[in-house]
Amino acid sequence: MNSMMAMATDNRAVPLTDGPATSSPLLGVEDLGIAFGATKVVEGLRFSVDPGRTLAIVGESGSGKSITSLAVMGLLGSSASVSGRALFRRRDGEVVDLLRLSPGRSRALRGDEIAMVFQEPMTALNPVLRIGDQLVEVLRNHGRPTRGAARARALEMLRTVGIPDPESRLHAYPHELSGGMRQRVMIAMALMLEPGLLIADEPTTALDVTIQAQILLLLRRLQKSLGMALVFITHDLGIVGQIADDVAVMYSGRVVEAGPARAVLATPNHPYTRGLLGSAPQVDASGTPLPLKPIPGIVPSPVFPPAGCRFHPRCGEAKAGLCDRTEPVLEPTGSARGVSCLRWKEIAS
Ligand SMILES: Nc1ncnc2c1ncn2[C@@H]1O[C@H](COP(=O)(O)OP(=O)(O)O)[C@@H](O)[C@H]1O
Ligand SMILES: [Mg+2]
Repeated sequence: MNSMMAMATDNRAVPLTDGPATSSPLLGVEDLGIAFGATKVVEGLRFSVDPGRTLAIVGESGSGKSITSLAVMGLLGSSASVSGRALFRRRDGEVVDLLRLSPGRSRALRGDEIAMVFQEPMTALNPVLRIGDQLVEVLRNHGRPTRGAARARALEMLRTVGIPDPESRLHAYPHELSGGMRQRVMIAMALMLEPGLLIADEPTTALDVTIQAQILLLLRRLQKSLGMALVFITHDLGIVGQIADDVAVMYSGRVVEAGPARAVLATPNHPYTRGLLGSAPQVDASGTPLPLKPIPGIVPSPVFPPAGCRFHPRCGEAKAGLCDRTEPVLEPTGSARGVSCLRWKEIAS
């Protein structure tokens, strides 16, 4: 069953599946809006994640991926005003709106049922605490296992994420580890309490390609073996095929295309998705790298967004009088897919 099923920029849920909609996603984000003062940076955002599946959220820097994940985590500061719903199904079956939890309940859920991994582990790890103490602290903040039991669990998790010689690493400080090892520690920390949902915000962006591939493999393996749902955030459409079941492509605070990753990558319907594919490193059948074709221009500032389709100033398919006037909404295109483009049918045919 597919997890991407309902997205729209208005208040109606548009079912994107052909069959019956999934009855109960683990996380269902509906009409999420995030504004700083009068500036709306995210609007009408809708996506859902089923238990045990991986959703990739892809888009260039500045498209609103990080603030979306912070809002869902309850970590967005009070300077932001948030609207919409983020319904999360807890282990005990209770459905809670993550956008409306008290700070105490939000903190209790974080780590325990939802965890997050950030791009730069050094900002999330405490530089003056040994790795082992930081891992143990996670457990002791949620219930009170004995020190011995917590240490044993920390050791087990370091082993699970592939850290060599984990006994001695328990005593290391974060700066004594390489970037890739630090990211493994972050993942171990996030998974200490076996959350049902892990949100990873550009977890491999700061790493070189070899280490990046290892971390992707690790996340994929852990997601499968723990039966956990994963929201994988990236600017690189090139790695989506390696990790995701489903994909939501974000542009300027909105979802512009969504559906099963394999189908979207094979036949993208939105010019922006095609642009992202063209700008990701790729090789042809003989292994020769294809020339990169970056998308011209930059992501618009949310302070002065373009009229009509927000992508039209950068779009080779834009039609004057249409795309610069009318704002498209995400519409179902069949096979659990959706696209937000006024011209997608014309372009496809
Ligand atoms: N605290 C803030 N105050 C005002 N604008 C912000 C704040 N945080 C992020 N933004 C704006 O929100 C938009 C999306 O940012 P972000 O979520 O970090 O994008 P991404 O993670 O996709 O690169 C950007 O235009 C950014 O400038
Ligand atoms: Mg970001």
